[in-house]
Amino acid sequence: MSDTGFSPADPAARAYPFYRDAHFMFRLIARGRPYICPFEPIVRWVPPGARLFDIGCGSGLWLMTLGTLNHIETGLGVDTNARALQIARQAAARLAKEEPRPTLTFHHTTTIADWPDEQFDVVSLIDVLHHIPPRNQNEFLDAAWRHVRPGGRLVYKDMGSAPKLHALANRLHDLILSRQLVHYISVDEVAEQLKASHGVILHQEAWRRGVYAHELLVVEKCK
Ligand SMILES: C[S@@+](CC[C@H](N)C(=O)[O-])C[C@H]1O[C@@H](n2cnc3c(N)ncnc32)[C@H](O)[C@@H]1O
Repeated sequence: MSDTGFSPADPAARAYPFYRDAHFMFRLIARGRPYICPFEPIVRWVPPGARLFDIGCGSGLWLMTLGTLNHIETGLGVDTNARALQIARQAAARLAKEEPRPTLTFHHTTTIADWPDEQFDVVSLIDVLHHIPPRNQNEFLDAAWRHVRPGGRLVYKDMGSAPKLHALANRLHDLILSRQLVHYISVDEVAEQLKASHGVILHQEAWRRGVYAHELLVVEKCK
């Protein structure tokens, strides 16, 4: 596991100006993002021109980052948090005025059944699965995988469950910010589940940034 250190050049910085009307707390958290969960190591796993489905998109920072890079064709984000989605829509509307492509849309969903009935080039799950109750995690992951088209890929990133001290830091972070005791699933378990469903591991990586540990997994679906 490498320690990537802080890179102020994280691509998320490109999206910040589009959130200038967002609540102060949101802007503070977004600004701290490169210290906690950088997008820099993840962007390269999204093929240019992809149609992307981002599950648990929150305020849309990931899709907005890809949007400002003009890296994707379309982006659809879903989340259970209506307030976060409102912030995402405002930022996307501002981006659309400056840069008509790509089209970014955000839908409020309460269950898997609300997700669109289509498949995408890329499905991303970034720091979401640990928010799902353990009994539902496999089903949630399965549903995300079903939305990947044959030949497409799932870009999965989550906070690391090891080393223990870093996992504790992640847990405290979520307890304070989300008021939720989160449940990590091991990245190897995620990899095994997807391999059993015609997935081929393209990339697996773990890194640390400060007290936070990260795990990235990129899995392609066989045609
Ligand atoms: C730590 S945030 C990550 C947000 C975003 N992916 C990012 O990286 O900036 C986790 C997000 O997952 C969302 N979430 C939790 N349970 C969900 C569910 N069942 N369906 C969709 N989103 C969910 C939360 O509302 C929150 O926005």
